[in-house]
Amino acid sequence: MTSVTPQPVRSVDEIRAAFPALARTHHGIPVAFFDGPGGTQVPRPVAEAMVDYLYHHNANTHWEYPTSRETDAMLLAARESCGDFLGVPADEIVFGPNMTTLSFHVARGLSRAWGPGDEVVVTELDHHANVAPWHTLVQERGITLRTVAMRPSDGTLDWGAFASAVGARTKLIAVGAASNALGTINDMSRARSLATAVDALLFVDAVHFAPHAIVERDTLGADLLVCSPYKFYGPHLGILTGRRALLEEIDVPRLEPAPPYAPDRLETGTQSHESIVGAQAGIDWLASLVPACREGRREALCQVQKELHRRGEILLDQLWTGLDAIPGIHLYGPPPGHPRTPTAGFVLDGVTAESVSDQLAEKGVFVSHGDFYAATVIERLGVGPSGLVRAGCACYTTAEEVTRLLDGVSAISQRRSSTQALGPKADSHSHPANTLGDPTGDQSSLQQPR
Ligand SMILES: Cc1ncc(COP(=O)(O)O)c(C=O)c1O
Repeated sequence: MTSVTPQPVRSVDEIRAAFPALARTHHGIPVAFFDGPGGTQVPRPVAEAMVDYLYHHNANTHWEYPTSRETDAMLLAARESCGDFLGVPADEIVFGPNMTTLSFHVARGLSRAWGPGDEVVVTELDHHANVAPWHTLVQERGITLRTVAMRPSDGTLDWGAFASAVGARTKLIAVGAASNALGTINDMSRARSLATAVDALLFVDAVHFAPHAIVERDTLGADLLVCSPYKFYGPHLGILTGRRALLEEIDVPRLEPAPPYAPDRLETGTQSHESIVGAQAGIDWLASLVPACREGRREALCQVQKELHRRGEILLDQLWTGLDAIPGIHLYGPPPGHPRTPTAGFVLDGVTAESVSDQLAEKGVFVSHGDFYAATVIERLGVGPSGLVRAGCACYTTAEEVTRLLDGVSAISQRRSSTQALGPKADSHSHPANTLGDPTGDQSSLQQPR
């Protein structure tokens, strides 16, 4: 095998020029988007491809007139693009509205062959979209659910507990490749070994992993893998992949006249064609960030993802070190240098996550807060109902933006100190129902999604 020399990846300034959203200002200040873990901004080619589809090719599939044929060809091309992104053949790509819907769909299909005595293993570290579809089966099929603990000290999985949870009755292990709340990257080879030892399926949630790493389904050891292009510069959409033979077998509910073969048989009803076309445009745009790569799209994507991961590590280091130096900050998850994404979860003593987010927004720094639907992580960390502040770096994040975020948090920390000296009423930025981190405060912040 010949080794390929990596080519230069476009600079962050060149990348930023592709994102119209980055021109946005708030109170006259340029917006710094740290909300990528909840959904990234999209580059211009994505929106243009979607508009072009809707204006010029919009049709339903499998008919013999030009726009329908064009739609068929565009969906096939999109499967090829997504296949290159996930390191799988095009005919193993299934589209759906989002990861959550696809996971419920697969869980329902697989579980038609399961019953009392069968077991599924889930983890505390996972987004609930990789827990609830399996939990539902406890009531629907009488299966047993085993939950692997997260270690609050460093936001990693308790692998000893994981090994104990897996046994001869385990049908499936559901685990995230990376935590959307803390950024922890899990050791999937360990999860694969546990699954292999008992002949169980491994269902991998790669939603938070895919934007930050090279995804190769079979190297990750996943039998089934799900992700969402809206987390990696595409439109709102979900993707499922699995070996074709497995996709043919899953007994999903489907309409009899619909195609009986994979991957189509798992796609319920008419898909969002424009989103599928947009997802392809997002992946092709990512591949185009290494213009000199001549070895094809998959190789280009690997080079880009590797370089973006490296840049993310530098930003995370700056973010983590800077936050750690601010009085009253508590950081959660693995520190820099451990397998993780550039997503930091933290709290500031005496100020709710919602209030931190609100005050940062006033400075044009957009961060998310709450439980991000990884509600068990928040419970286990014991940070109270306001949850965490989450700052995630994306391909368009700059060191200067990280500095602005740090300055903003530092200013809130200082105000908090003077506020505390004056008494709680002086904190004019806090929501009245959840000032100063009151653990019985406003539960509404827990409604904040993803
Ligand atoms: C790790 C993780 N898994 C699953 C999901 C759910 O994805 P979707 O919104 O596509 O259903 C999210 C969404 O934030 C996520 O971050």
